[in-house]
Amino acid sequence: MSDFNYSLVIPGTDSFQRTISHRTRRVYDYLAGVYPASTFLFHSKAHKCALDMAGIRDGMRVLEVATGSGEMFRRLVKANPGGSTTGLDLSPNMAARTQRRAREEFPGAKANCQAVDARHIPFRDETFDAVVCCYLLELLSTDDIAIALRECRRVLRRKGTFTLVLIGQNTDLFNRAYKVCGNIAPAFWGRQVDRRVPGMIEATDLQIVAERTVRQGFYPSRVICARR
Ligand SMILES: C[S@@+](CC[C@H](N)C(=O)[O-])C[C@H]1O[C@@H](n2cnc3c(N)ncnc32)[C@H](O)[C@@H]1O
Repeated sequence: MSDFNYSLVIPGTDSFQRTISHRTRRVYDYLAGVYPASTFLFHSKAHKCALDMAGIRDGMRVLEVATGSGEMFRRLVKANPGGSTTGLDLSPNMAARTQRRAREEFPGAKANCQAVDARHIPFRDETFDAVVCCYLLELLSTDDIAIALRECRRVLRRKGTFTLVLIGQNTDLFNRAYKVCGNIAPAFWGRQVDRRVPGMIEATDLQIVAERTVRQGFYPSRVICARR
């Protein structure tokens, strides 16, 4: 595996020198009950697109990293009723909600979600056919993005697909608004990483095979599908 290419980050341009996971965990724990509204308003279109691009088929072993309140997770379980769908999220309240809602909606499906940090995924190498991760990397420092990407690749089988959703960085006004929000509440918003992550994916030895840009109202997302 090739090492992360640090020249992709211009010194002094990254406002996130380290991951503030204790604060991120606290804020997402606190918001777990109301977070579905935000997902519905801003993320649902990109989730649909990611599901389509991930090529999930029934019977697969699927992992979702950073499930949030579980809206994408339930889409994955629905597409994979006879397989196994595993979720993880740093916030115990988010993970518990994800698991409870999936089990209520799909009682016969093999669906599990645990409170786990994406930087240390507790599964053996090549456990999953597909790994999906939506809107997590914004919350990690650049070094931790590289670590999380390596973990996603490690647990993915050869030729398996890694599908990633990022907040788009292609709209100037939105970028400025995001920067303000990120300065006010960095543990919740993080900062945009869309421009730097594709290079980091390739540096992790994952080959990008498809990309799409999605807009939901004023909120842009970028969906990237890569193969191991
Ligand atoms: C912006 S939300 C996105 C939630 C969901 N993926 C979606 O598409 O709506 C980010 C989620 O990442 C989780 N998270 C943050 N840091 C994490 C980490 N190091 N490992 C796992 N999950 C993390 C948060 O708890 C939160 O639920």
